[in-house]
Amino acid sequence: MKNVTILKGQIVFTKEPEAFEIHTNSFLIAVEGVIEGIYKKLPEKYRDCLIYDYGNNIIIPGFVDLHLHAAQYPQCGMGMTKQLLDWLGDYTFDLEKEFQDPDFAKEVYTSFVDKLVACGTLRACIFASTSTTGTEQLFEVCKKKGIGAYVGKVNMDRNGPDFILESTTDSLNGTRYLLEKYGDEKLVKPIVTPRFAPTSSKKLLEGLGKLAQTYNAPVQSHLSENRDEIQWVSELFENAKSYADVYFMNNLFGQTKTLMAHGIYLQKTEINTIQEHNLILVHCPDSNINLRSGIMPVRKYLDLGLKVGLGSDIAGGHKIALNEAMVRAIQLSKILSTEDEGPDALTVSEVFYSATKLGGSFFGKVGSFEKGYSLDALVLKDELFVAKRYSLEDRLEKFIYTGDDRNIQARFVEGTLIE
Ligand code: GUN
Ligand code: FE
Repeated sequence: MKNVTILKGQIVFTKEPEAFEIHTNSFLIAVEGVIEGIYKKLPEKYRDCLIYDYGNNIIIPGFVDLHLHAAQYPQCGMGMTKQLLDWLGDYTFDLEKEFQDPDFAKEVYTSFVDKLVACGTLRACIFASTSTTGTEQLFEVCKKKGIGAYVGKVNMDRNGPDFILESTTDSLNGTRYLLEKYGDEKLVKPIVTPRFAPTSSKKLLEGLGKLAQTYNAPVQSHLSENRDEIQWVSELFENAKSYADVYFMNNLFGQTKTLMAHGIYLQKTEINTIQEHNLILVHCPDSNINLRSGIMPVRKYLDLGLKVGLGSDIAGGHKIALNEAMVRAIQLSKILSTEDEGPDALTVSEVFYSATKLGGSFFGKVGSFEKGYSLDALVLKDELFVAKRYSLEDRLEKFIYTGDDRNIQARFVEGTLIE
């Protein structure tokens, strides 16, 4: 018999953003990590297989964090009175330089990945630091843990302190080395990661765009997060039509699959390019509050048909658990909704969809329990008096609002139990 995984319990996921799909007391079955179906009654051919029976507990897809910085994990919750550019200069760069030491990198990245997984994030798109050897450590830690990830060595060759910048050539060579070394991995893959336009020379962006094309590699960066940043970009790149155009001109904006974090202050032309080239924007609500960046108009973007995923943006965001980001996304949308003629607030199922199926689409068939999807799952555990009294939807909402790693009892990636 092939490798079969069977989970039994209360199965909840979002095929569409509008509503949860619920299968009570059912068997979720995967063969070689790929979901075969959900059944009320166990099909005869699986009669002799091992069953993970979770009884009345809820089983949901694993979370997908589309934007966070592993090398900022130690500074979560620090420097939170600053805005973006000062925060980078006064806190972040200083910490990121430490990752040139592989032992330090390994220690921090191990604790980062352990916490990430404990909190239910089983796939993530991660910025490491400018250090190539440090970034290798992050690849290895993710591989060892068994999660799915896109890992990016951060590229920056100007407008930062010397101790963190690389020459354009070293930055490109380091990226190429990682593309070669990890390009054929199954679960943990490289992603081209210019930090953001201001710390990139034209030559660096051009070179990274070429690498992305040559290796058909995905791209991640920051876009339109903070008003001072946007002004700075317009001064640095006078020939670009917009912030997005800086990336687009260099084949870093949808020519291969692309994620852009934030995108709070987008112009119409930028929105059009994002639509045409199928980019995913990553909403990072905690970070946007902490660094006083602004509020992403998520409802407006959704109404325009844009794809919006979720990110913790550690350490602009202070909490690594993605259910925290879901809550904050709803709360920010409620603030916008109180304005005259304000947009409707986001619903629980909408943010859950962003954090699972929409985010998962960057990885392939991930983030849902439909046939053909990867069996990436979390098994929740709520208090008995809650479980007995409330509906499955109420229980899931309570987990999203108040739950933490202690409320997750098991995690599976591609059908394999993660220890
Ligand atoms: N823009 C450029 N670098 C960063 C970073 O590290 N965090 C955030 N939130 N925005 C950035
Ligand atoms: Fe970020």
